[in-house]
Amino acid sequence: MCPPTYYRIEYEINPWMRRSRPSNHCLAQEQWQTLYRVLQERLHARVSLIEPRPDLPDMVFTANGGLVWKNKFIVSNFRHRVRRGEAAHFANWFASGKYEIFNLSKKSYFEGEGDLLMCADVMFAGCPIRSSAISHRAIAEILELQVRSLRLTNRWFYHLDTCFCPLSPSEAIYYPGAFDADALKMLAKHVRNLIPVEKEEAYRFACNAIAVDKKVIINQGCPKIRRQLEALGFAVYEVPLTEFIKAGGSAKCLVLKIAPL
Ligand code: ARG
Repeated sequence: MCPPTYYRIEYEINPWMRRSRPSNHCLAQEQWQTLYRVLQERLHARVSLIEPRPDLPDMVFTANGGLVWKNKFIVSNFRHRVRRGEAAHFANWFASGKYEIFNLSKKSYFEGEGDLLMCADVMFAGCPIRSSAISHRAIAEILELQVRSLRLTNRWFYHLDTCFCPLSPSEAIYYPGAFDADALKMLAKHVRNLIPVEKEEAYRFACNAIAVDKKVIINQGCPKIRRQLEALGFAVYEVPLTEFIKAGGSAKCLVLKIAPL
């Protein structure tokens, strides 16, 4: 994770962001601290931090720094210039560990784990709003895995992790209104229990949840999906994340999962 010391709404690169609707600095710190605490105390996660940079307000959304897969780290190629400076910091952080670092060709846009999620032994990849489909082929070669591209059609759900959240190898929640028909077929073909989130809660970032074992952290105010998750045996922890939603991100965007080596 990356502390939100310099987090603010400085530019507009998705429909959620409005410079005229600034985030509250103190509240953002408080909300991030709550998420940080719940991850450690409830999900028993070990959280490492990367140093925030004053000129990179969105660096707090570490899910976009790249993708970790076993001992490989694929560095992001951000679509928008304003976020490109983040990539080198994430690459350096992983280079100081035991990771092999991969860079994609400059023209294939790729925004990390935000657009790449594994479920049912399939690596699903979102495109074309932020990551380009061509990057998926390069990634498949690096990971030696099949990567299935899913077309995102709604600009409010511009990363795959805003509309799809794997819970286990056989179950996931998703927002059908964010995908094209082929993507919906692809998901239905591979994921046995695909649980739709209704529009209102999808726009409250219900799908941008963090799932670890039978525990889920979700933005506050998604009672319907909460009940469904509980019925499936998940313990649900709600964290208020209003200040990050102003930038188009919630719980899941604020963390980058690192598999233990
Ligand atoms: N303001 C950031 C952007 O538009 C938010 C990123 C949210 N991250 C995510 N993984 N969905 O790039």
